[in-house]
Amino acid sequence: MEKEGLYKLDSIIEKFRGKSGSLIPVLNEAQEEYGYLPLEVQDYIAQQLNIPLSKVYGVATFYAQYSMEPKGEYVIHVCDGTACHVRRSTIILDAIKEKLQLTDEKNTTDNKKFTLETVSCLGACGLAPVVTINGKVHGKMSPKAVKKIIDELDGGEIDA
Ligand code: FES
Repeated sequence: MEKEGLYKLDSIIEKFRGKSGSLIPVLNEAQEEYGYLPLEVQDYIAQQLNIPLSKVYGVATFYAQYSMEPKGEYVIHVCDGTACHVRRSTIILDAIKEKLQLTDEKNTTDNKKFTLETVSCLGACGLAPVVTINGKVHGKMSPKAVKKIIDELDGGEIDA
């Protein structure tokens, strides 16, 4: 990341400087700004808030909402909560992995178009099994239906 890119952090940090518990809100906004939390960003935050980098890193790697790697243009969340699990969300997950050639270790496509993540509940249990793509809810999913949506997004035909 270019050094200039880090200056976007200054206004974020200024909002929370001197307040107790400032690290989490700063990380939240930094994640939103950059889409992930590269080490340079964590280091800059540590310096500016005068806290050890190890503490920033510890928090950034503890919470699932933070990412250490850039995510794809489309972030797919497959729910694996109880309601979705009993409605076979695992076959939806497997279908997406197969379609996008992803694995547990590799969750972003090489072209950085799609990132696949699992979550424990998306708050739409009545629509199980549920997938969201960039926050848009797709309920009562089947492997065929989710593959069709991915095809459409890959062709850029619809907005997620
Ligand atoms: S368990 Fe899947 S949306 Fe709640």
